[in-house]
Amino acid sequence: DGTGTAVTGAGTSHDSRTADGENAQTLTTRQGHPLTNNQNIRTIGNRGAATLENYAFIEKISHFDRERIPERVVHARGAGAHGVFEAYGTVGGEPIAKYTRAKLFQEKGKQTPVFVRFSTVGHGGHSPETLRDPRGFAVKFYTEDGNWDLVGNNLKVFFIRDAMKFPDLIHSQKPDPVHNRQTGERIFDFISNTPEAMHMVAFLFSPWGIPANYRQMQGSGVNTYKWVNAQGEAVLVKYHWEPLQGIKNLTAQEAEAIQAKNFNHATQDLFEHIAKGDFPQWELCVQIMSDDEHPELDFDPLDDTKIWPEDQFPFLPVGKMTLNRNPENYFAEVEQSAFGTGVLVDGLDFSDDKMLQGRTFSYSDTQRYRVGTNYLQLPINAPKKHVATNQRDGQMAYHVDSAPDQNLHINYEPSSLNGLKEAPRSAPDHMPEYKGRLMKQTIDRQNNFKQAGERYRLHEDWERDDLINNMVGALTNADRRVSDKMVELCTNCDPDWGRRLAEGLEQARSGKTAEGGNQYNEARGSEAVAQAEAT
Ligand code: HEM
Repeated sequence: DGTGTAVTGAGTSHDSRTADGENAQTLTTRQGHPLTNNQNIRTIGNRGAATLENYAFIEKISHFDRERIPERVVHARGAGAHGVFEAYGTVGGEPIAKYTRAKLFQEKGKQTPVFVRFSTVGHGGHSPETLRDPRGFAVKFYTEDGNWDLVGNNLKVFFIRDAMKFPDLIHSQKPDPVHNRQTGERIFDFISNTPEAMHMVAFLFSPWGIPANYRQMQGSGVNTYKWVNAQGEAVLVKYHWEPLQGIKNLTAQEAEAIQAKNFNHATQDLFEHIAKGDFPQWELCVQIMSDDEHPELDFDPLDDTKIWPEDQFPFLPVGKMTLNRNPENYFAEVEQSAFGTGVLVDGLDFSDDKMLQGRTFSYSDTQRYRVGTNYLQLPINAPKKHVATNQRDGQMAYHVDSAPDQNLHINYEPSSLNGLKEAPRSAPDHMPEYKGRLMKQTIDRQNNFKQAGERYRLHEDWERDDLINNMVGALTNADRRVSDKMVELCTNCDPDWGRRLAEGLEQARSGKTAEGGNQYNEARGSEAVAQAEAT
């Protein structure tokens, strides 16, 4: 019916009979022409030659030729589901309004529809879901004030703290530009020159780098945001999703066994649990800090390579999310979904976290390229509320975002001729004051190794063993300049970590142990592999 009201893009209505012998199931072209022959192209005689005016064939094949859009430059492999978020109305025993005026959190029991996309990061759209990688955890809340996207990962920290480094980080983890294989040497060449990544390494190369599936993993906003109350006052906030199904991770060996049989296991697990009514749930918790620099801490609260210690900044539950509906069409809902850190509602704000600011440009920029200028008109991305803008046209403009009684001649503002009007201000803006020198410099309180060492010691024995084994596997055939630096960085975090890595590498190089986190292939191609095998 052309209104596109259904979220899935499916469910458009048809007349039951539109022409002689035609009904709703009759195959047509996109022009609505009933298709009487979908088996044969039009030819001179039944052996050919073909003619070029065959519209139905050309429409079909040229649409097929355009079926793929660019995949996400990161997080290409994913799975999604619809659900609902239910607010608790309080935080830490107090009304939540004390800290944020965001409407979706206010009343106990208030429900907001959500769409979630989980993903792996580094590899392409059909790569195995058993790979060592952070997992994406992106949530779109369709609130009454418009959309809020919370674009997070399963792990609570990140490799880098400055957006300038992101393309280099990702290049080092993507396949080698010459032979198209991911290598441990390239990953650790970057990391060994990026000491702030050690906290992430302590997680990622342990079993925490391979969650067993998407249901049994945590989520985290990673970056620091702000909450703003009705007075315009702000606090710093970090978000965490805690799975009510528990957490389950895999060793490299367990992951390999699954991968040998099934490289879609996480997608399958999510879809099948929802299909049978076993709906996964997560509790949303926040950590809150007053909005200042906190010189008393040995880390910077805006540094996304750090966690905020739970004993000082407890996890405070604010609501619960249930995923209860599978997509009807993967492409329309999951592939074309577009999340971004800039998508906040009133009562939520950015902090000065410079990674967050860099990310915020990147998401909508890539989506205008990946999905198209009018990506926000697609049902999966459009808010489930009134949208009225003076933005017009562009590729694939599907409708005009106007108000019902708007004078459609007036696509500008201000106007006296019944155009759109600015929304009335209901509460004061949060207006932080800035004074400082413009510069390009890293932060002062880097403290790159302390929390990484703590994480190493917090691991259980089997997790530490797996961490060492995986690092040895990825570094055995790497250039010594890279592996020596890694031993040094691990030693800085915890001498035991450095010692065990050095011993593991020595044994592997002398051929005493062959095992290890082998999914990175050998570092320098078949020659190096042959040499390693010969020694
Ligand atoms: C996806 C950029 C850091 C989580 C993406 C995409 C880009 C991007 C370009 C593809 C988006 C699309 O095609 O729709 C960046 C930049 C970063 C950064 C420039 C740092 C400066 C992070 C961090 C996290 C994260 C720290 C975790 C908190 C995600 C997730 C997705 C994603 C979950 C997939 C969203 C989806 O399912 O569609 N990122 N990213 N990114 N990023 Fe980031």
